[in-house]
Amino acid sequence: MASLTDDLQQLLRDFTQKLDGAETEQSVRKAYADYGGANGAIRARQKELLKAAPNAEKKAIGQATNEVLQKVDAAFAAALKRLGDAAAAKDLERTVDVTLPGRAHRLGHLHPITLARREIEAIFSQLGFTVAVGPQVETDFHNFEALAMPKDHPARDMQDTFYVDGSPDVVLRTHTSPVQIRTMLAQKPPVRIIVPGTVYRRDDDATHSPMFNQVEGLCVDEGITFADLKGVLLHFARRFFGEKIGVRLRPSFFPFTEPSAEVDFTCVFCGGSGCRTCKGTGWIEIGGSGMVDPEVFRYVGYDSERYSGFAFGWGIDRMAMLKYGVDNITAFFEGDVRFARQFK
Ligand code: DAH
Repeated sequence: MASLTDDLQQLLRDFTQKLDGAETEQSVRKAYADYGGANGAIRARQKELLKAAPNAEKKAIGQATNEVLQKVDAAFAAALKRLGDAAAAKDLERTVDVTLPGRAHRLGHLHPITLARREIEAIFSQLGFTVAVGPQVETDFHNFEALAMPKDHPARDMQDTFYVDGSPDVVLRTHTSPVQIRTMLAQKPPVRIIVPGTVYRRDDDATHSPMFNQVEGLCVDEGITFADLKGVLLHFARRFFGEKIGVRLRPSFFPFTEPSAEVDFTCVFCGGSGCRTCKGTGWIEIGGSGMVDPEVFRYVGYDSERYSGFAFGWGIDRMAMLKYGVDNITAFFEGDVRFARQFK
């Protein structure tokens, strides 16, 4: 019998030899199937031994086979581990070189219009103004009527206004001024708000975008005068553009202010000497302003004998152009990341 089980020992040695020479997982698995598997050489040899042996020896043969098969399993597991470890070590060698510089992730950052808006909000909040918002889809009443714009006023012309769903009473707001009305209808004086927001007009050429951004200002209290408007305006301009900025008020007309003034800032592209961007004037128009018309107070139920106020409405995009020296407004809306990336 000893000589018979020697055959099994020999098969075990053959198997481990095969494993030692194996360099791939595939050849290890093949060797295992050939020797240790259900149809492998060891089982086959066991069957032969059992057939030939007398009954008294059969148990011993079974035991001997199982011992050999256990060793085969252990050797198989060890061989797989050896290959796995080697592969992992090779992987490490290849991919982790701790002396290489790290890969930096590109950080997102804010759009220049957002940067400008936030700075405008910060400057006015230090003056005691709060930020108010309103809907972009507006009623004719808030957008026009209560701002003292009668039905035949040119600002209501179909050319400038987007009407929603063909309704004559629902518009995309053409300015941020309707939030003046919403605010005054909702609260009593004193009022000090700014309203940054998107507005829409049927206008699209080199210097006009159908969608742009304004910031509205409204200050109502007892004893507010035009001098307050000018002081606030100057303070803002110097904080936003720097001490050297020039501010100019030009008499103008708006239905909801009396008197009214157009606000110009020094052209930053030429420093005021005149260039293409400012059309040779040295000034860039930022928006309108004025003293709130008593007619508007009448619409919102404020006593115009007791209260007065100033208001303004400026283009944020225009201001951002001046602040960052961008001479083409469409750059703000094209979404070219190379443009946006320049503003930190
Ligand atoms: N809403 C006006 C516009 O978009 C701008 C404006 C002018 C707003 C004078 C005001 C103001 O608050 O007082 O053309």
